[in-house]
Amino acid sequence: MGWGLRRGHGRLIYAVLACATIGAALSMLVFATAGAETTTSHSAENSVGFGVVPFPDNTRHLDSGIAAPHDEAFPFFPSRASTAGRMLTPEMFDPPEVCGGCHIEIYAQWKGSMHSKAWTDPIYRAALNAISKATGGKADKFCMGCHTPVGVVSGEATPSGEGMSAVADRGVQCEVCHNISQSTGIGNGAYVLTPHLYGRPLKFGPFPDAISPYHDTAYSRLHTQSEFCGNCHDVTHPFNRLPIERTYTEWKDSPYAGMGVQCQDCHMKPVRGKATPFSKERERIYTHYFVGGNALVTEMLGSETHSKLAEDMLRSAALVEIFPPEALVAGRVNTVRVRVTNIGAGHKLPTGFPEGREMWLDFKVVNERGDVLYRLGSVKNGQTEEGTQSFKVVLGDKDGNVVELNVLEADRILYDTRIEPKGYKDVKYQFDLPPNFAGKVRLVAELNYWSFSQAFLDHLMGKEAPRARITKMTGAQATSSVVQAE
Ligand code: HEC
Ligand code: HEC
Ligand code: HEC
Ligand code: HEC
Ligand code: HEC
Repeated sequence: MGWGLRRGHGRLIYAVLACATIGAALSMLVFATAGAETTTSHSAENSVGFGVVPFPDNTRHLDSGIAAPHDEAFPFFPSRASTAGRMLTPEMFDPPEVCGGCHIEIYAQWKGSMHSKAWTDPIYRAALNAISKATGGKADKFCMGCHTPVGVVSGEATPSGEGMSAVADRGVQCEVCHNISQSTGIGNGAYVLTPHLYGRPLKFGPFPDAISPYHDTAYSRLHTQSEFCGNCHDVTHPFNRLPIERTYTEWKDSPYAGMGVQCQDCHMKPVRGKATPFSKERERIYTHYFVGGNALVTEMLGSETHSKLAEDMLRSAALVEIFPPEALVAGRVNTVRVRVTNIGAGHKLPTGFPEGREMWLDFKVVNERGDVLYRLGSVKNGQTEEGTQSFKVVLGDKDGNVVELNVLEADRILYDTRIEPKGYKDVKYQFDLPPNFAGKVRLVAELNYWSFSQAFLDHLMGKEAPRARITKMTGAQATSSVVQAE
C-alpha cells in the first residue's frame, strides 16, 4: 500500500483568504503548487499527495449564547450547529473504524468513551424521547445537535433513530471533532462542521507539521483549548436562556483558566507517543478516553476500562476533613464540622447533567462496639434521605416546582450547592449522645457520587432501568472522647 511519507511532488498547498463582507465572511480558496512544480505532476505511486493546509487562527473571543431562528446562520435551530453554508451528506464522514485503521490506540481509547455512546446511550435516548413527546418535537434538533452531530448536519437524525445511516449512530466521533474548523460561540453546539472543506479530506488537529497519507491536515489552535469542548459542554435553555449545564463557564471562572490548564490536560491526559504506529514519536500525544464521572453507563455499554477510569477520576476530585470539638458531651446536642474541598475538578463538583449528578456526605457516629448512634446521608427509596448534605444543582419551573426531567420547562435555579473549583464547603452535623454515655466514638464521613439516582432511573425508564451505581469518592474518620456534662 505504501503508507510512507512522501514529499514534494505536486503537493497542493491551499491558502485561504478570508474576505470580510457585510454580514458574512466569504472564504476564497486559492490553489498554489509546492515549489516550482505544477499541480499536474504526480508522485511515483500516483498518490494524491496530502499535505499541510495553512489555516488562519480559529480562536477568538467567544460568548455563551443561543441560536436565533434564522435559517442562514443557524440551519439546525434551536441547535447552534452550522456548516459554513454547505449541504452535508453522511457519505462525507468516515466511520471511526477507518480512522482506527491507522490511529489504532486513539480509536481503542475513544471506543468505550461516553462520546462514542452519545447517541446510543439508552438513558439519553429515554430522556430524548420523553422530552420530544412532551414538547411536540420542538427541541429534538437541540438535543441531537450535541449527541449526534453527524445525524443533525446531514438532516437524518430522528429521536427514534429510524432512517439514520450507520455513521450517524456513532455519537461524538472522530469525524465530528476533527472536522470542526471554527466555533460561532460557546455552547449549544456552536461548532462549524466542515468535512472535505476544500474538496478532499482535511483533519484539524494540534500539530503544525503532521503529514498523513490519507488526509490533509491543518493546525487548529482551537483544538488545544477549552473553547473547543465549550462548543458542547455549556448548555443554555434555547428559548429562555436559563443556564442549564455550564461546565465550560465554570472552568472559565476558575483559577485553572488563569493558569492555562485546559479541559484536555485533565480529560485527554497527554503522554509521550505516536499518533499511528508508523508516524514519529512526539513529546505529547493527547489520549482519547474522555472519562468523567460516569462509571455506570460506560460499564453498562461494555467498557470496564472506562468505568474504572471514571472511578479513579472521581476519587481524585475531592478531600474530606472532619473537625471534631475537643470532646463531645454526653446528654447534649453536639456539633461536628466537616469540610469538603474540590481539589481535582477544573469546574464545579459535580458538574454536567443537572437532573442526575449528585455528590453527598454519608455521616455516621459509631460507638466502640460498632453500633451506629447517628447517621445522616443514607439512601432511602432510591434517593438520598431527607436532610442529606448533598452537592447538586436543582432546576425549577415557572411555578417554582422542581424540574425532574424536562429541562425545557426549567425557568430558574432553585439552588446550587456544588463546590467551586479549588473551593470548599463546610457542613455541620448536630446529634444527641445518650446522658450516661461513656467511652469514645468514631466519626465517619464518606463522600459518595452517582450519575443518576435510582429514583431518577426508575422514573425515566421503568422496568428497563439499570441499577444505580454509587462510587465512594473519599472519606475521613476521627475519634473523639465523650465527657459527662458538668
Ligand atoms: C470530543 C472530540 C474528539 C473526538 C471524538 C476525537 N478527538 Fe482526536 N483530538 C481531539 C482534540 C481536542 C485533540 C487535541 C488535544 C490537544 O492537543 O490539546 C485531538 C488530537 C488528535 C490527534 C493528534 C494526536 C493526539 O492524540 O494528540 C489525532 C491523530 C486524533 N485526535 C485522532 C482522532 C481519532 C482517530 C478519533 C476517533 C477514534 C478522534 N481523534 C476522536 C478531540 C477529539
Ligand atoms: C492511512 C493512515 C491514516 C488514516 C486512515 C487516518 N489517518 Fe489521521 N493521520 C495519519 C498520520 C500518519 C498522521 C500524522 C501523525 C503525526 O504527524 O504525528 C495523521 C494525523 C492526524 C491528525 C492530526 C492532524 C494535525 O494537524 O494535528 C488528525 C486529527 C487525524 N489524523 C485524524 C484522522 C481521522 C479523523 C481519520 C479518519 C477519518 C484519520 N485521521 C485517518 C494517518 C492516518
Ligand atoms: C460535539 C459535542 C461535544 C464536544 C465538542 C465535546 N463533547 Fe464531551 N460530551 C458530549 C456529549 C453529548 C456527552 C455525553 C454523552 C452521553 O452521556 O450520552 C459528552 C461527554 C463527555 C464526558 C463524559 C462525562 C461523564 O459523565 O463521564 C467527558 C469527560 C467529556 N465529554 C469531555 C470533553 C472534552 C474534554 C472535550 C473537549 C476536548 C469534549 N468533551 C468535547 C459532547 C461533546
Ligand atoms: C484540573 C482537572 C480538570 C479540568 C481542567 C477539567 N476537568 Fe472535568 N473533571 C475533572 C474531574 C476530577 C472530574 C470528576 C469529578 C466530577 O464529576 O466533577 C471531572 C468531571 C467532568 C465531567 C463529568 C461530570 C459529571 O459528573 O457528569 C465532564 C463532562 C467534564 N469533567 C468536562 C470538562 C470540561 C468540558 C472541561 C473544560 C471546560 C473540564 N472538564 C476541565 C477534572 C478536570
Ligand atoms: C450543548 C450540547 C448539548 C445539548 C444541546 C444537549 N446535551 Fe445532553 N449532554 C451534553 C453533555 C456535554 C453531556 C455530558 C455531561 C455530563 O456528563 O454531566 C450530556 C449528558 C446528557 C445526559 C446524561 C447521559 C448519561 O448517560 O450520563 C442526558 C440524559 C442528556 N444529556 C439528555 C439531553 C436531552 C434530552 C437534551 C435536549 C433537551 C440534551 N441532552 C441536550 C450536551 C448537550
